[in-house]
Amino acid sequence: MTSPSMQATACAQPNIALVKYWGKRDAALNLPAAGSLSITLAALHTRTHLRFDPALAQDEVVLNGRRESEHTRKIGGFLDLFRARARIETRARIESGNDFPTGAGLASSASGFAALAVAADGALALGLAKHELSMLARRGSGSAARSIFGGFVEMAAGDRDDGTDAFATPLLDAAAWPLEVVIAITTREQKATSSRDGMQASQRTSPYYRDWIATVPGDLATARDAVLARDFEKLAHVSEASCMAMHAVMLATRPALIYWNGATLACIQCIRSLQAEGTGVFFTIDAGPQVKAVCLPQAAARVADALRGIDGVEDVLASGLGEGARLETVSA
Ligand code: DP6
Repeated sequence: MTSPSMQATACAQPNIALVKYWGKRDAALNLPAAGSLSITLAALHTRTHLRFDPALAQDEVVLNGRRESEHTRKIGGFLDLFRARARIETRARIESGNDFPTGAGLASSASGFAALAVAADGALALGLAKHELSMLARRGSGSAARSIFGGFVEMAAGDRDDGTDAFATPLLDAAAWPLEVVIAITTREQKATSSRDGMQASQRTSPYYRDWIATVPGDLATARDAVLARDFEKLAHVSEASCMAMHAVMLATRPALIYWNGATLACIQCIRSLQAEGTGVFFTIDAGPQVKAVCLPQAAARVADALRGIDGVEDVLASGLGEGARLETVSA
């Protein structure tokens, strides 16, 4: 049984996939159709405070200082997974804040569910292993499974029906290959189609979906080798190819999913000219118009300056690679 009030605060950072996840083998358990590979960022944070309180009649969610009703059901359903393990029904108040734009392709759901999983584990003293936390975070958002770990991370698709083999594992520490990421923000508006809805639409209607899923294992093997060998060129080629193949699937979805804007394309062209000059940089783009430029440390300042100068780029953020989700405080 839980004590009257059990609370915890956890912090997690978003991650950026280099080999992308776009498609599910099971929607109910949120099982990915293929694996993925990501880097966890250092400079962007989600901090989540969670308090189980017997006085609450229902779960309450405050996101970035605003009382939420839109996401309360989903978050409540996610917490049910932890309540079931702790054998309690106590409702909770969740307060979560991001220090970066929410819902604009910067993976706020990844850091959000990773932080919430760690906070729930801490508040309920469940003592879950990291792979279990990753598996549970996946139920909130597939990409959240990866933010449990820092540095370079690989997510397994698994093949069991119950999803017990679909979790992330760390591949290489951030300090072992300290790449930098420069993010060009091309809009602060929320995207029109969520990743969840978008990938389901692609799965239903994109003629390229099957071929896309078939390319992932090969790309994953190449990217894994590149990371372990710290081979930047090799990682650059496979990451850009995975990103563009995913966007090709999106574009061929009916109706088309166009996550880019004009500045997104201008950023790609800028990065291509920097590459032609020998600058160590490559791009990746998720379900939103922001461009993430992954750089060798010595190239980051040059890349940031170049992207800042592009019409339509509203802001440029820079980040190193960071650690996985962690508990900050826990109290009764
Ligand atoms: C384009 O993890 O947000 O960022 O599992 O449905 O919550 P759900 O999807 P989500 O999708 C991320 C898609 C992506 C690529 C990636 O991060 O691998």
